[in-house]
Amino acid sequence: MEQYRRALQDYLAGGGEGDLQRAYELGREALAGGLGVLDMAMMHAEALGTVWPTAPTPEERAHAAKTVAFFMESLSPFEMTHRAFGEATLTLRRLNEMLEEESKRIAHALHDEAGQLLVSAHIALAEVASELPPPGRERLQEIRGLLYQIERRLRELSHELRPVVLDDLGLVAAIEFLAQGVSKRAGFPIAVEGSTMGRLPPQIETALYRIVQEALTNVTKHARSTRVNIRLGRKDRRVRCSVQDDGKGFDVDAVFGGRARRGLGLLGIRERVNALGGTLQITSAPRQGTELSVTIPVEA
Ligand SMILES: Nc1ncnc2c1ncn2[C@@H]1O[C@H](COP(=O)(O)OP(=O)(O)OP(=O)(O)O)[C@@H](O)[C@H]1O
Ligand SMILES: [Mg+2]
Repeated sequence: MEQYRRALQDYLAGGGEGDLQRAYELGREALAGGLGVLDMAMMHAEALGTVWPTAPTPEERAHAAKTVAFFMESLSPFEMTHRAFGEATLTLRRLNEMLEEESKRIAHALHDEAGQLLVSAHIALAEVASELPPPGRERLQEIRGLLYQIERRLRELSHELRPVVLDDLGLVAAIEFLAQGVSKRAGFPIAVEGSTMGRLPPQIETALYRIVQEALTNVTKHARSTRVNIRLGRKDRRVRCSVQDDGKGFDVDAVFGGRARRGLGLLGIRERVNALGGTLQITSAPRQGTELSVTIPVEA
């Protein structure tokens, strides 16, 4: 309140852009601290009471108070929407966390439990092999080869489902690992550049990983691209991540406006970004490639 009053006073005393920037920062802090639209209006009303250029008459005071009461009433619907949005965002975030937990569980089950069963199968086969004449042994060797393939595929699947690298080594390493796998399967190069300057909060790392994963899936499914660039960067309490292809592009407005066939991928990306208070931008046009870029605030 005191900071708001002082900033307002400075601004009225002839301040400029710098004071407006301060107002913006105060707004952000208030939002992070859980204040709503009406709390801000109330704060403004109280500050108004102290910033008169000359001592106000009682009539002027009453008049100002009524103006503020009127203004606050008109803000009420915005406050309700703001609160509902905050709750929906929280629910989305919880839902995503639940899904992540579930993927982690399935990834571990695939990796550890299925892996253990395969080891038992190998041991059993080795025992049988030792009792068989050579032609039978060769057949068993082929079956073991198949088991190895299953094992490798299961390991890949479990890593993509929930990459251990993401928890252990962080976002850039996990994205590099993902890019290598996709590049090998899809047959075009994928470059990963930039850094996040250290670890980010886990929910942001997970969200960015999932976003890049879906963006790459889209490139391989739809774009007919010959190369992809992934860029990561961090500047002033914001992390930015973009995935750019040189493929056939698409009509973004038609997809988001529901005029084109729509899947769940891009909507899912938008929801993840919203849940973290970030922004999503997609630049694309037919035959011009696509750049999907997200910016997410990282609180200190
Ligand atoms: N990189 C891209 N290049 C070309 N077209 C794209 C690209 N990304 C998305 N699109 C277009 O946008 C549409 C919507 O993408 P979205 O990921 O939402 O759905 P989907 O990939 O079709 O299905 P889902 O993701 O549910 O499996 C796609 O059908 C495709 O036409
Ligand atoms: Mg998709």
